[in-house]
Amino acid sequence: MIELAPSILASDFANLASEVHAALAGGGTVVHVDVMDGHFVPNITIGPPVVKSLRKVTDAVLDCHLMIENPDQYIPEFAEAGADWISVHQEACRHLDRSLQLIHGLGKKAGVVINPATPVDTLSEVLDIVDFVLVMSVNPGFGGQRFIRNALHKIQALAETRAALGLNFRIEVDGGVALDTVEDVVRAGAEILVAGSAVFGPGGAEANARTLLQRARQANLLSA
Ligand code: DX5
Ligand code: ZN
Repeated sequence: MIELAPSILASDFANLASEVHAALAGGGTVVHVDVMDGHFVPNITIGPPVVKSLRKVTDAVLDCHLMIENPDQYIPEFAEAGADWISVHQEACRHLDRSLQLIHGLGKKAGVVINPATPVDTLSEVLDIVDFVLVMSVNPGFGGQRFIRNALHKIQALAETRAALGLNFRIEVDGGVALDTVEDVVRAGAEILVAGSAVFGPGGAEANARTLLQRARQANLLSA
């Protein structure tokens, strides 16, 4: 099933609740929350208090993408704040298996994220324990960047490995997903589509989300 995960990074933070409601009204089902610490990535965004506030205004899935050093230290706080899905970067985890177990132990869905330069092969030992794999199609840190096409063959490789091994993880893609790239990512096998500027940019979040999702679902039908 194709799902749209609007990334609030591109939204108007002063009107966060109404921005999120608009994106969900347009068909978004997962609220993607970009957490950056100024160390793992060169930008600082938001933390557990914002997740807690979001939890009060929506029942939609809260997908916390942790772009932070030492994620184990903060995972419990995000869980407590109301995150449903928590993902950690392969590159930020010294003990990736432990971090994923920590997330599961708190009753949350666990995802692993790989940067554009990180090969899919580095995940071979965790594919059977993750709920989803997030393939970055930009270098993390900022919204509005250009889609890196290498992500396509990584998504495809993940879909093939999943089928070959009979696994169940879902495939999420993040970065530069917009009207001109969404068909390619869906054809490659991505199922959860993160989109920031394509949703919260000019045009209004509800209409933008609807158009993007429509195009994604069409591409999915045609490639099935
Ligand atoms: C980038 C973040 C993305 C970002 C995507 O580090 O992980 O979620 O919001 O923004 P767009 O869709 O504008 O590329
Ligand atoms: Zn993200």
